[in-house]
Amino acid sequence: MRHFLSAVLFGAAFVALANAAGTDGEISFEYHRYEELRKALVSVWLQCPTITRIYTIGESFEGRELLVLEMTDNPGTHEPGEPEFKYIANMHGNEAVGRELIIYLAQYLCNQYQQGNNTIIDLIHSTRIHLMPSMNPDGFEKAASQPGEIKDWFVGRSNAQGVDLNRNFPDLDRIIYINEREGGANNHLLQNMKKAVDENTKLAPETKAVIHWIMDIPFVLSANLHGGDVVANYPYDETRTGSTHEYSASPDDVMFKSLARAYSMYNPVMSDPHRPPCRKNDDDSSFKDGITNGGAWYSVPGGMQDFNYLSSNCFEITLELSCDKFPNEDTLKNYWEQNRNSLVSYIEQVHRGVKGFVRDLQGNAISNATISVEGIDHDITTAKDGDYWRLLAPGNYKVAASAPGYLTVIKKVAIPYSPATRVDFELESLMERKEEEREELMDWWKMMSETLNF
Ligand SMILES: *[C@@H]1O[C@H](CO)[C@@H](O)[C@H](O)[C@H]1NC(C)=O
Ligand SMILES: *[C@@H]1O[C@H](CO)[C@@H](O)[C@H](O)[C@H]1NC(C)=O
Ligand SMILES: [Zn+2]
Repeated sequence: MRHFLSAVLFGAAFVALANAAGTDGEISFEYHRYEELRKALVSVWLQCPTITRIYTIGESFEGRELLVLEMTDNPGTHEPGEPEFKYIANMHGNEAVGRELIIYLAQYLCNQYQQGNNTIIDLIHSTRIHLMPSMNPDGFEKAASQPGEIKDWFVGRSNAQGVDLNRNFPDLDRIIYINEREGGANNHLLQNMKKAVDENTKLAPETKAVIHWIMDIPFVLSANLHGGDVVANYPYDETRTGSTHEYSASPDDVMFKSLARAYSMYNPVMSDPHRPPCRKNDDDSSFKDGITNGGAWYSVPGGMQDFNYLSSNCFEITLELSCDKFPNEDTLKNYWEQNRNSLVSYIEQVHRGVKGFVRDLQGNAISNATISVEGIDHDITTAKDGDYWRLLAPGNYKVAASAPGYLTVIKKVAIPYSPATRVDFELESLMERKEEEREELMDWWKMMSETLNF
């Protein structure tokens, strides 16, 4: 569950107010330690209060808050029909660039919104954006507190218990690979298992908090920011056979490539075909146009990316942003410039495919209805208000909406690159259908009896 900001942070807000004035509208290209990160988010909130909200999804092992800045036109609520997006950075505490880029992105979006940039205004009005600069604040503090500018390659990667958070998620790939062969669910593999998650002692507090977050909010699209290489990596991350390198396509392989490409193409370093590998002996042979399938690069069991896709409606990719995990502070501005357009472009991808509402004939929302696409063995479901978003690459599709107790409706849909095509479904309940049939039968019987005069 989410906890709203503690009084402590509100206390900090008024301290920040004093120095926010001087930096208004500017981006401060520097590293932010835990307290500075809080202050930076509070400054954005103070600068753009009508479109932001700060909340926390829980605490790290050492008790630091897992802070999120939400940016949208009506912060704090899911608006029916409006898709939700998230960025999560710094799950490896020593991979620091993503953490800073998410802070700068928040500052940039707020500044551009205030300056009347229509691209940004439209994006914020049509999307609920959640920004989490650090999923592993304990690891970051450990990495950042090493003396000198050169940081160890591993110090601070794990959380304070020594758990690698990107190997700590329930391994749903194993289940989906069995279901592919033997039949079974093709999504929402943790359905009705929240209690088992809470009771699982192997899950770190950071992992548990993020699992709840993923399951509670109807996220459509997400990215998870890392460092140590430069590439946009898409599912599946874990190979089917367990081998170390093997292309592991998900049912949405075409769309995932397109999403990863929407990030890499605006990053001149990531998309450069002549970029030498980060280190002389690195095997980058699976990289093409700045993107790679996760399994083709190297297999990752228990990662967050595949977990999003297999436990919820959310499509997530993994972004590797820098060869150095913790580069010198004076390079941060350069990383921002390389990634700014990509970061915005990737959020815009949430407005692709097909979207709409599923309702009954009386206009009541049908939540948890299934949206399936012929030829793609990965269903998604409707949210509370019957709203859904199904990311799809351009093409012609047959899309079906179904729910227990209703007649399934199938529609043909032509989908351009963007924006998302609106398709609503009205489902007739089987009870109503039976009632109609009964009435027809009664009418017929009445007519017959009148004709025959008995
Ligand atoms: C508005 O924002 C978009 C997206 O970030 C950017 O490409 C564009 O340059 C901005 N326009 C101005 C006038 O700054
Ligand atoms: C959603 O529907 C599925 C199958 O139709 C069912 O197993 C699951 O329990 C439902 N979930 C909720 C939260 O109602
Ligand atoms: Zn990482």
